[in-house]
Amino acid sequence: MSHKRVAILISGGGSNMVALVRSMTGDHPARPVLVLANRPDAGGLKRAAALGVPTAMVDHRPFGADRTAFEAALTAALEQARPDIIALAGFMRILTPAFINRWKGRMLNIHPSLLPKYRGLHTHARAIKAGDAEAGCSVHEVTAELDGGPVLGQARVPILPDDTPETLAARVLEQEHRLYPAVLKRFAAGDRTPLYL
Ligand code: GRF
Repeated sequence: MSHKRVAILISGGGSNMVALVRSMTGDHPARPVLVLANRPDAGGLKRAAALGVPTAMVDHRPFGADRTAFEAALTAALEQARPDIIALAGFMRILTPAFINRWKGRMLNIHPSLLPKYRGLHTHARAIKAGDAEAGCSVHEVTAELDGGPVLGQARVPILPDDTPETLAARVLEQEHRLYPAVLKRFAAGDRTPLYL
C-alpha cells in the first residue's frame, strides 16, 4: 500500500508539525513529504530539516495584500511535493475560498479551542475571561468558513483558577500534540469518525 503524502504548513515553531512528523512511522498510512512555512524565520523549518523532511518557504510579505499571488506561489511549492493531504499546523495566514476549494476534503487544521466556541484569535484569554471550566483544542476540516469546518477531533483540559492565557496555552498545546497525530492517522485511513480524547 502506498502511503498518503502529507504536506504540513507552519508559521512558527512547528511543535505540532514535529508531533505529526514523528507519528508518521511504521503502519501509519501516511508520510510527511513537505514542511512549508510562510516566514523565513519560522523555527519549524530547521526542526523539519533535522527530522529529514523536505522544506520550502514562501514569504507572504512581498505579496502584500495580494493573497491570490501568494497562494499561487504556495501552490507551486506544494505541487512539487504532490501532497494528498495538507495539515495546517500553527499556520497563521487566512486562505482564500479558491485555495480552500482546491484542497476541499483534504486539508486539516488544529485550532486551540473547543469549537464551535472561540473561533479566531486569543482563544485562551477569551475562555478564561468567560469563566469557562474547561478549554481545549479541535482538529477540523478546513472550509471557507474560518475555523468552521467539520470537527474531526477534540481534547479537553481544565481551566485552573490561577491560569493565565500562557499557562492554559501550554496545557492545551500538550493535548494538541496528542490529538492531531491521532486524527491524522484516522483521516489518512479514510476514517472521518470524530475522535474525543
Ligand atoms: C498553537 O497554539 C496552536 O494551537 C496553533 O498555533 C500555535 C503554535 O503551534 N495552531 P506550533 O507550535 O507552531 O505547532
